[in-house]
Amino acid sequence: MHRKHLSFFLIVCVLSWGMEFSGAQMVPAVYVLGDSLVDVGNNNHLPVSVAKANFPHNGVDFPTKKPTGRFCNGKNAADLLAEKLGLPSSPPYLSLKKNKNASFQNGVSFASGGAGIFNGTDRVFGQAIPLSNQVDNYLAVHKTLVQQMGSSAVEEHFSKSLFAIVIGSNDLFDYFGSSDLRKKNTPQQFVDLMANTLKGQLKRLYEFGARKFFFAGIGAIGCIPAERVKNKTQECNAERNFWTVKYNEGLKAMLKGLKSELQGMSYSYFDTYTIMQNVIQNPSTYGFNEIKAACCGLGDLRAKVACVPVSEYCPNRNDHVFWDLYHPTEQTARIFVDTLFDGSSPVCVPMNVRQLVSA
Ligand SMILES: *[C@@H]1O[C@H](CO)[C@@H](O)[C@H](O)[C@H]1NC(C)=O
Ligand SMILES: *[C@@H]1O[C@H](CO)[C@@H](O)[C@H](O)[C@H]1NC(C)=O
Ligand SMILES: *[C@@H]1O[C@H](CO)[C@@H](O)[C@H](O)[C@H]1NC(C)=O
Repeated sequence: MHRKHLSFFLIVCVLSWGMEFSGAQMVPAVYVLGDSLVDVGNNNHLPVSVAKANFPHNGVDFPTKKPTGRFCNGKNAADLLAEKLGLPSSPPYLSLKKNKNASFQNGVSFASGGAGIFNGTDRVFGQAIPLSNQVDNYLAVHKTLVQQMGSSAVEEHFSKSLFAIVIGSNDLFDYFGSSDLRKKNTPQQFVDLMANTLKGQLKRLYEFGARKFFFAGIGAIGCIPAERVKNKTQECNAERNFWTVKYNEGLKAMLKGLKSELQGMSYSYFDTYTIMQNVIQNPSTYGFNEIKAACCGLGDLRAKVACVPVSEYCPNRNDHVFWDLYHPTEQTARIFVDTLFDGSSPVCVPMNVRQLVSA
């Protein structure tokens, strides 16, 4: 072996050895709240919900090759974040609730496809579990663990655990899709109300022991296939993107303020929007060659019909940014999670997740 190659080989070995160590468990557990970007199967247990993904071709690249309720071809961002932290994916709350022996100590996912910060008209009648009910469910978990472990052990456990929160896209979809909501609030009022309502729920989590929070800002929802397909030239919806950025700015300001109010709270905010725009503008850098069309669906941009069993799906999932008309592929989620874990300011502020969990 050439000397240069040998030292390269050694460096790779040392790096991968180091990575195995960083793969050791970094937090006791992850508690996930949010929407379909991180749902790992809660909605499978909602009897009347149509916001489901427990049918093909979802899951075609999942380790089991089976649909699980994830709105993705493979693992979603919640799975990939757990992997980074050296933990198994946090199981769905509604699956654990059915099993009397289930443990809440190793993490729980409260996330639900279709959920928003607001209860939302499309979420009544059991379509999804809105954020305030996800927090109610967390409070129930907290209560059970206090009975099992005692309050001081529980306090210690939750203060070291990570609370990952990925929510808000559905509230903006609702707003722009509803003339009633638009009449009631200006877009600025609406995004302010979103951040303020989220703040109220974060205080409840904090009151019941949560200290370390990860927040994903909303991505470039004007560029999802469902929006592009409405435009003759398949461009992004500029208004949706504009208000997404406005909301994200409000969210960042709210978090900064909250940290100064709540002693011992720390957080990491990830600018999903910027990374998504980078991917869309420089696809080849990231190994993509399809940024507009969904992989799974039917019609223009495979965005006229959702990813259902009769839909077609692309053979090359790794070069598509979008899995279906709304959701990213596993490959896109992987780019997000790699970046939120080890990225730097201004994309990760005031720190990345690795720093958050090490502090
Ligand atoms: C729960 O645990 C008990 C005692 O360990 C066991 O007998 C029982 O089969 C378990 N039930 C389930 C649903 O796993
Ligand atoms: C949503 O509904 C619950 C009752 O289920 C209520 O307590 C809560 O305040 C509502 N949240 C919002 C943001 O409207
Ligand atoms: C398509 O998108 C562009 C860029 O946002 C916009 O200027 C144009 O008005 C849109 N066209 C339609 C038909 O919506």
